[in-house]
Amino acid sequence: MRTQVVIVGAGPAGLTLAHLLHRQGIDCLVLEARAREHIETRVRAGVLEQPTVDLLDEIGLAGRLRVEGMTHHGIRLRFDHAMHRIDFADLTGAAITVYAQQELVKDLVAARLAGGQPILFDVDDVRLDGVDTDRPRVRFRHDGRERTVDCDVIAGCDGFHGISRASIPAGVLTVHERVYPFAWLGILARTRPSCDELVYARHPDGFALHSMRGPEVTRQYLQVPAGTDLADWPDERIWTGLRRRLGHGDGLDLEEGPIFDKSLAPMRSFVVEPMRYGRLFLLGDAAHIVPATGAKGLNLAVADARVLSYGLGHHYATGRWDELDRYTARCLRRVWQVQQFSWWMTAMLHRIDGTQPFDERLRAAELDRVVSSRAAATTLAENYVGLPFATGW
Ligand code: FAD
Ligand code: DHB
Repeated sequence: MRTQVVIVGAGPAGLTLAHLLHRQGIDCLVLEARAREHIETRVRAGVLEQPTVDLLDEIGLAGRLRVEGMTHHGIRLRFDHAMHRIDFADLTGAAITVYAQQELVKDLVAARLAGGQPILFDVDDVRLDGVDTDRPRVRFRHDGRERTVDCDVIAGCDGFHGISRASIPAGVLTVHERVYPFAWLGILARTRPSCDELVYARHPDGFALHSMRGPEVTRQYLQVPAGTDLADWPDERIWTGLRRRLGHGDGLDLEEGPIFDKSLAPMRSFVVEPMRYGRLFLLGDAAHIVPATGAKGLNLAVADARVLSYGLGHHYATGRWDELDRYTARCLRRVWQVQQFSWWMTAMLHRIDGTQPFDERLRAAELDRVVSSRAAATTLAENYVGLPFATGW
């Protein structure tokens, strides 16, 4: 079997890339290790940047998200018993859209299958061969049969734990990494949001975030130590923590209700350079991870897909490789901007044990500046709503 591009992984990066390639008449095969139902129900991110929404709109994939997504024109920052608003509309003219990642995945899968384009679910044992030659090949098992696909290019969109990055020989990639001594405990609860915008709270006990998934469901997070066991966090302890950090009276009047999902997410900054080895290109979480505070992981995955689809379009139109040779440099420019923003938001809002009181005061001063200077607030807002994509490619 032969196709032009094999895409390993049907997350936001792989599915967006598949659509962008199909629009340019480029054939691709998407291979996904898990079942369709699994990827369509996996609880993850929830914030789409303006450029992400605009791109999805442009390619006809924003129908349901325009109706069901919640457009937010700002966020709230809560600290020292006070609530402050960062007004994105005023500062940038842009907005964010709150829409669950699994809903976006559903939309992207449905649109691809409706167009008769292939996604193979439940594939096993994916192996990449000859990626440093001009005849790459992907082998895998599907429906109990061993399959082989020859292709021109492989897109490694299989997330942080996938096989794509692991297939690159030792010594090729430089890894930049920072692991944080805390994680986020995330819940979904059947309660009305207690604020019409996301609330990011800095508190002596640690960070908390109040977010939502619709008029009847909230998504909320608590900073917990790395290595925390969920069994130590019964529902009442979670509500007590959220109430303390998000505030009574002078903060949110938090509504409580049944918690129907609980998970832990480690916090990590990670980048590999380059994002390419021969005919293998890495996208999204396969190449980089950001701490969740800036809500950027999904958006960065979509941005990589846009850059690669442009390079591949140019390649198939001209036979040249020069635009693809710019893939790493183009992606990394945005990746490092977003790493910087995510690290900055994380440091400003979390409790970081073991640091000097001096550093603690500096981080508090930074946050104070964001709510008292239009220039500082604009820096936050511009990054949060999403840096514009480069024009022309
Ligand atoms: P993924 O979405 O990870 O997609 C990769 C796909 O590849 C998956 O479907 C996987 O099943 C498949 N795959 C893996 N290995 C193979 C293989 N060998 N062969 C074939 N397919 C394979 N971001 C936020 O902004 N806010 C959040 O609250 C947030 N929460 C998160 C919680 C968790 C538990 C995780 C893991 C991530 C979270 N993120 C969050 C980050 C965000 O969800 C990711 O950045 C985003 O999913 C990246 O998209 P992707 O397509 O690169 O990778
Ligand atoms: C959500 C997740 C984030 O990481 C964030 O910064 C804001 C909101 C969410 O899941 O709703």
